[in-house]
Amino acid sequence: MTQSKEPVGVIGVGWVGLVTAACFAELGHPVVARDILPEKVAALSRGELTIHEPGLAELVQRNAERLRFTTEMDELLGAARLLFVCVDTPPTRSGDADLSRVRAVVDELGSEGGHVLIMKSTVPAGTGETIRRDLPGLAYVSCPEFLKEGTAVEDFMHPDRVVIGADAGDEEAGDAVAALYEPLGGQLVRTDVASAEMIKLASNAFLATKISFVNEIANVCEEVGADVAEVARGMGLDRRIGPSFLRAGIGYGGSCFPKDVSALKMLAGNTGYHFQLLNAVIEVNELQKRRVVQKLLAHLGSLVGKRVALLGLAFKPDTDDMREASSLVLAARLQGEGAEVVAYDPVAAEAARGLLDGVELSDSALGALAGTDAAVLVTEWDEFAELNWTEAASRMARPLLIDGRNFLDSDKLVSAGFEYEGIGRAAGVGYEQTPS
Ligand code: UGA
Repeated sequence: MTQSKEPVGVIGVGWVGLVTAACFAELGHPVVARDILPEKVAALSRGELTIHEPGLAELVQRNAERLRFTTEMDELLGAARLLFVCVDTPPTRSGDADLSRVRAVVDELGSEGGHVLIMKSTVPAGTGETIRRDLPGLAYVSCPEFLKEGTAVEDFMHPDRVVIGADAGDEEAGDAVAALYEPLGGQLVRTDVASAEMIKLASNAFLATKISFVNEIANVCEEVGADVAEVARGMGLDRRIGPSFLRAGIGYGGSCFPKDVSALKMLAGNTGYHFQLLNAVIEVNELQKRRVVQKLLAHLGSLVGKRVALLGLAFKPDTDDMREASSLVLAARLQGEGAEVVAYDPVAAEAARGLLDGVELSDSALGALAGTDAAVLVTEWDEFAELNWTEAASRMARPLLIDGRNFLDSDKLVSAGFEYEGIGRAAGVGYEQTPS
């Protein structure tokens, strides 16, 4: 690999920013990544990662020579023409996307000429047009990111599609971004900025809709004695539907779906359009997190004074991200019913500290299960599939398990002495995972 490849600048070194920086460095580009937090920049400069993401630490270390972290915007501007904006856009109190960090970057860039601002942060449609008006000296390209936490490096390196939105006058900037992604393959979608912005929001909202849909199907399956895994398998074989994102469970979480569904709903509302479907998607998801409590009540009568273990806390496996994790709502609801809650997560325990008031954190799954009246599997970590469930049953006061992700082999649990209940499936029914 040579140093003659186009330098890349990355602004905001969160999940998306760090993966973008590391992956472009891996592709041979010199990368300068800028964050406003000095302690984060110092840690990354020492090769220490601030997030848990499989394969990322190796990538950062392997490409250390090509990867520079800084707090200085000037250093970035001097080093690269192509600037990826990867700052976060969390929800505001009103449910709209908070663009203050994007605005801060725009203010800093000011009248800088000659650079290309490439927006990776998820922003409401219309944002690009406003920024372009405010920064006439810059070219503007919308290039939304579709990576998933836990498989972020793999997703970045092997995209299904690369979306590049550029308006009239910025075609050359769009070509430069397309050239960066060319080695990765994937369908290239060249479009205008507003459409690119909408592709991102619509994709996340559609995936969230799929999950809420299958969760409602699961709830009906419970009523009619069907198995949602079988239903999802049968549905997914129709190529128009596809098998992905049809895993029923205790609701979606994370830093993206909850915020982006709400942001799209608000974006529509702000223009005077009432996006009815998304209200249902959000409500189903909220109720789904709480259904486990009903299941426990049906088995235990009351939860007052009962000890309940949560297996897994992160919003999904292979990440330590606790943002909008279903475990947060579940723990609070269980405590509200008078239960004592103990939890174990192989990776997210540190991130969860301080978020789970009054929840005891255990350093092993068997330790968490000791003396409990019930357990709920919240996050499908591989470690739980391999647990010695016979030993687990013997340690619990009552071996009752609600499998919130339909992850475990129910036959194995029943033979180990468990009362087992999943989501949308009859107890004791074997289950094959559908792909995510
Ligand atoms: C999501 C999208 O999948 C990415 O394409 C997108 O780039 C990203 O948001 C973003 O906008 O940055 P992510 O939040 O990392 O990625 O995780 P997902 O794998 O999508 O899972 C989200 C939630 O849905 C998790 O809580 C997961 O457990 C849940 N889920 C997922 C289900 O309940 N059922 C499924 O079938 C799939």
